Amino acid sequence: MTDPREGYKRYLWAPFTQMGDIDEEVEPLVIVSGEGARVTDSQGKEYIDGHAALWLANVGFGRQEIVEAAYEQLKRLSYFPSFAGMSNDVAVTLAERMVDMMEPEGMSRVFFSSGGSEAVETALKMARQYWRLKGEGRKFKFISRKKSYHGVTMGALGATGLVGNRRLFEPMVPGFRHIEAPHCYHCPYGLERDTCNLVCANELERTIEFEGPDTVAAFIGEPVMGAGGVIVPPDGYWQEIERICRKYDVLLIADEVITGFGRTGEMFGCRHWGVKPDIMVLAKALTSGYLPLGATLTGEEIFKVCLGKHGEGKEFRHGNTYSGHPAACAAAMVNIDIVEREGLVAQSRDNGEYLLERLRELEALPMVGNVDGLGLMARVELVQEDGNPFPPADMVGLGVARQLMRKGIILRALGDVISFSPPLVIDRDEIDAMVDPLGEILRDM
Ligand SMILES: Cc1ncc(COP(=O)(O)O)c(C=O)c1O
Repeated sequence: MTDPREGYKRYLWAPFTQMGDIDEEVEPLVIVSGEGARVTDSQGKEYIDGHAALWLANVGFGRQEIVEAAYEQLKRLSYFPSFAGMSNDVAVTLAERMVDMMEPEGMSRVFFSSGGSEAVETALKMARQYWRLKGEGRKFKFISRKKSYHGVTMGALGATGLVGNRRLFEPMVPGFRHIEAPHCYHCPYGLERDTCNLVCANELERTIEFEGPDTVAAFIGEPVMGAGGVIVPPDGYWQEIERICRKYDVLLIADEVITGFGRTGEMFGCRHWGVKPDIMVLAKALTSGYLPLGATLTGEEIFKVCLGKHGEGKEFRHGNTYSGHPAACAAAMVNIDIVEREGLVAQSRDNGEYLLERLRELEALPMVGNVDGLGLMARVELVQEDGNPFPPADMVGLGVARQLMRKGIILRALGDVISFSPPLVIDRDEIDAMVDPLGEILRDM
């Protein structure tokens, strides 16, 4: 068999990859198998996967019961759509299960898609249709945050606040506005966490006032921001966002694509602050990546506005071929069983505290500017000795991630933030085996 790394270089055009960087010096990492929190590459080298693949392998790799459930499902029924009054039994069963789980948030309807971007797109379109049907068609704008990541399709990209992801695809879809992120370490207002009066949350109010409350459909945010650098908001932030949304009749969309299913030490991120969104977006750990699936949930209020009879034009004319794919739904059912049965949410909380404790030991190093996290989602931000950021061209974070890779640890560099998001099944020895080499590398530097 030819080395798959050669095939990668010759045939693949990989997402979010500068293909020109891949050469003899930087070989692509081609993974061929996985078990628990560990994966093995095409050369037989084993790694601890400190990033749960792409923030999603919450139950870990190699779960035969998920594989078998998907296999059995494919044998019974490979696919049937959920369009136009049809569906398949597993999609219905999973929808019921999810509504049950998200009862505290008031969710009562599930709209399936194939992944996070599609699920965000669904949420945005639901919000616009809701207001249009309520006779408030001027309420079409969305407010999100700088540094947010909501996906890559044009609507989700409009909400995304990572400049680099947007720049080459301008012009964006009209109607998106961005406020500052609740990033205390780099507070855009130069304030301190305990005395800031949550100016970043209040910016939502000022922006709604500026745009006109009668023009704003929804606010969308990740409970803990992921790709923008693992940004944990200060206490009170989300309660303030919710208060402002209610005051101005603006829908609140929680993008839980990363934070759903235990990542932050609660089943869903918004539970940390008791926030009840109008719309919730899920993907990734809904199946732990065993098969692609996204879901957008909402309560009865939004659903009922779209209810009517054929010909009235009120139905939600939106959907993806693979909305509610039976094999993906079967995988999700067993995935959720595992999360619940093995107490992975509590494990995320407990081992998350341990991970953070271990990472805080690194704070004494001159290169470590900031350590923060929630559950098994954490950040280590690297800075120069004087506390200033490194010049982006130095790619210090990437250099550290590459050194870690050589030591058999997969962690992601989000700029100069080393990001941790391991499978929730990771144990403390494996956490040590990630943190110790990082410490050694930073000490040597
Ligand atoms: C918060 C959030 N929303 C949406 C998405 C998009 O999901 P997908 O890559 O499945 O389209 C991501 C992907 O990382 C994400 O982190």
